[in-house]
Amino acid sequence: QTHLLGIEPLHPLEITAILDRADHYVAMNRSEDKHAEALKGLTQINMFFENSTRTQASFELAGQRLGADVMSMAMQASSIKKGETLIDTALTLNAMRPDLLVVRHPHSGAVDLLAQKVNCAVLNAGDGRHEHPTQALLDALTIRRAKGRLHRLVVAICGDIAHSRVARSNIQLLGKMENRVRLVGPPTLMPSAAADWGVEVYDDMRAGLEDADVVMMLRLQKERMDGGFIPSEREYYHRYGLDADKLAGAKDDAIVMHPGPMNRGVEIDGTLADDINRSVIQEQVEMGVAVRMAAMDLLAQNLRAARAEAADA
Ligand code: CP
Repeated sequence: QTHLLGIEPLHPLEITAILDRADHYVAMNRSEDKHAEALKGLTQINMFFENSTRTQASFELAGQRLGADVMSMAMQASSIKKGETLIDTALTLNAMRPDLLVVRHPHSGAVDLLAQKVNCAVLNAGDGRHEHPTQALLDALTIRRAKGRLHRLVVAICGDIAHSRVARSNIQLLGKMENRVRLVGPPTLMPSAAADWGVEVYDDMRAGLEDADVVMMLRLQKERMDGGFIPSEREYYHRYGLDADKLAGAKDDAIVMHPGPMNRGVEIDGTLADDINRSVIQEQVEMGVAVRMAAMDLLAQNLRAARAEAADA
């Protein structure tokens, strides 16, 4: 593969290869010398058309630690504001000969479209409610390191499933690795197609969390609700907010995850989010840098091989 647009096209062996490479970078990032040369000589451009803290910062750090020239476009100050289209912006940047483009966009499918127009590797940093592949990969690495395996686990993904690209990418990845995935949330935030996704669907938190190994919480993604029904935060926390009482039905060693940004007191109790015996939220952030290093390293290898083949032809 020369792009990472989603989890859907990945083979389980490719997922394992990315996670194995990421483990190597976790060790490197914990050492005194955090630098390697996997992307030396390459140019990485980050284009975030939607706000981000974790994904943008970790892609920047990942590229820098691997020796790339990294530029993050300030999209709010770009000519997009003067009416330039996404494709014209991409073609303009493509003419500057980048090797890696990291793109986040509010519209589902926008990153796939852009990837067809440029001749470098494209990484999807989240498109609408479609996919967020590096988030699912970092979640998988966090689970594998905490549980010692990434198969035959019961994983409950809870909250606003309907608007979540994190949920879609995780459902794909966890299913490919032969886990049991449960989706838990109010019917108003559960896609009608969910029953066809090879998952179990619950609208009751206690039933959905029973004997779970992993509890993954999602925030209410109001920016994607398009004027639709938004539940009251107080009522939502009462029924679907994760606290120690609801978590008690999960396995004793169940881990608590959240991709961030987190709304304390809405989808999760703040004390539980900070409980280092249960919560792996900070580990998820750490794994994000390593997974993005691994993904860009492997894509750059494929890109170099494809370019060498084209030069020989
Ligand atoms: N999890 C995630 O995508 O966070 P950011 O929006 O801060 O990048």
